[in-house]
Amino acid sequence: MNHSTTTENPIAIRARQLNLWYGSFQALYDINLEIKQGMITSMIGPSGCGKSTILRSVDRINERLGYVRIEGAIEVLGQNIYAPEVELAQLRKQVGMVFQRPNPLPISIFDNVIFGHRIHRDPATKISKAAESELVESALRQVLLWDKVKDKLHSKASVGLSLEEQQKLCIARLLPVKPAVLLMDEPCSALDPKGTAAVEELIWTLRGQYSILLVTHNMAQARRASEECIFLLMGRVVEHGATDAMFLAPRCQETANYIEGRYG
Ligand SMILES: Nc1ncnc2c1ncn2[C@@H]1O[C@H](COP(=O)(O)OP(=O)(O)O)[C@@H](O)[C@H]1O
Ligand SMILES: [Mg+2]
Repeated sequence: MNHSTTTENPIAIRARQLNLWYGSFQALYDINLEIKQGMITSMIGPSGCGKSTILRSVDRINERLGYVRIEGAIEVLGQNIYAPEVELAQLRKQVGMVFQRPNPLPISIFDNVIFGHRIHRDPATKISKAAESELVESALRQVLLWDKVKDKLHSKASVGLSLEEQQKLCIARLLPVKPAVLLMDEPCSALDPKGTAAVEELIWTLRGQYSILLVTHNMAQARRASEECIFLLMGRVVEHGATDAMFLAPRCQETANYIEGRYG
C-alpha cells in the first residue's frame, strides 16, 4: 500500500460490494469503489447503466421508494451511511446533490443560498444577519455569481436568472452547510454550450475543497472536468482510473468501445 497517496487523498466515498434491486430488477452488481477526497471523479456510461442509482444511493434518496433493496455498504468519510444510527439529516449535511434541471426554491436568491444552513444549524446558536450575509456572499462568490446578483439578492430566484445562473445558485446553496461531498447528476444537461462551459469552469474551481462525483453523458466534459473517471456498464464498474489515462489507453475493450462511440 502506498501511504503517501493514502494520506494525501483519503477516501471520501467507499462502496463495498454494493448490490441494488428495484423490485426484482437488479440495477447494481458488486460495486466496489473508492472516490478520493478533494478530487473530481466523473462517472460515465450508457443510459440506464446505473449512474443515477449510485448517486442516489450515496444520498439515500432511493430508499423513499418502498421497493428498493440494497446489500453491501457505502461509507462517507469512513462512516457506513446505512448503519441504523445514522440520521438522514446528518447525512444530508455531509452530502449535497445537484440535479439535471436547476430547481431553485420560489423564494429570494438570498433565502435560497441560506436555506440549507438555516435548516441544518443548531437552533440554539444565534447567528446575526451580518453573519448570514457573509455566508451568502461567500457562497455566491465561490460559484462566480456574486457580481451578477449582488444588486438583486432579495428578488425571486426563479425569475430573471438564466438556467446557467440558476444551476450555479443550486450549487451555491449547498456550500454554507459545508458538505464533504457534492454529487452532481448531469448538472449541465439542461444548459446551452456557453452555460455548460461556465458551470464546468465553476466545478473545476471547487476542486480540492470538495469531493465531487460528477455524472455526465458528455465524454468531452468528463475529459475536461475530472481527474478520475469511472466507466459503468449494465450495473457494473468496468474501469476506474485517472481520466487522461482512461481516455488515451483504456484497459478494457468495453471502455474503448464506449469512448469510440460504439454504444448509445
Ligand atoms: N425508480 C426506479 N424504478 C425501477 N427501475 C428503475 C428506477 N430508477 C432506475 N431504474 C432502472 O435502473 C437502471 C439504472 O437506471 P439509472 O441509474 O437511472 O441509469 P443512468 O443514470 O445511468 O441512466 C435502468 O435500467 C432503469 O430503468
Ligand atoms: Mg441518470
